[in-house]
Amino acid sequence: MKEVKPEVFNESVFRVIGKDWLLVTAEAEGKANAMTASWGGMGIMWGKPVAYIFIRPSRYTKEFIDKSEGLTLSVFAEDRRKMMNYFGTVSGRDEDKIAKAGLTACHDNGRTYFDEARVTMLCRKLYAQELKQACFIDKACDEKWYNDDYHTMYIVEIEKILVQE
Ligand SMILES: Cc1cc2nc3c(=O)[nH]c(=O)nc-3n(C[C@H](O)[C@H](O)[C@H](O)COP(=O)(O)O)c2cc1C
Repeated sequence: MKEVKPEVFNESVFRVIGKDWLLVTAEAEGKANAMTASWGGMGIMWGKPVAYIFIRPSRYTKEFIDKSEGLTLSVFAEDRRKMMNYFGTVSGRDEDKIAKAGLTACHDNGRTYFDEARVTMLCRKLYAQELKQACFIDKACDEKWYNDDYHTMYIVEIEKILVQE
């Protein structure tokens, strides 16, 4: 894997997040859990390269994110689509998804990432805030997507981007 600076990372965020999807992985107390996410963004905030991810309160991964200082975002090649669906439909409360998927875990400063990922982002949490019903300008988004289970938005600094050579 080689490091690519955020300013030269030239993949479409719309494709990477919305089509390829992200594997959000967090580690706490020596254990890691991961889930698929296809909502979010990347950009600049407080002068830093950041990613924005949105996690519902029911996700087991949220417990890991809340306990840790960082997390990783991984993007896999198309031949891992089935695996990404698995990480997005089964909860780590019921099975050890990382072990079952046969992924090779690597560790960096309390963060777990994977040898098999096409792109890896090592991230540090900067900010977290729950979305609020009163803040919806387009009420249709609230009605369509929520039943009192508002996402928490996490803004994370992208400290390092690694791409498969
Ligand atoms: C394509 C896809 C995208 C998803 N995107 C998100 C997301 O952005 N935020 C979220 O909270 N859940 C999202 N999910 C749902 C979680 O991945 C799913 O509930 C998962 O089983 C949670 O696992 P966990 O309980 O081990 O954390 C998505 C699922 C799929 C299949």
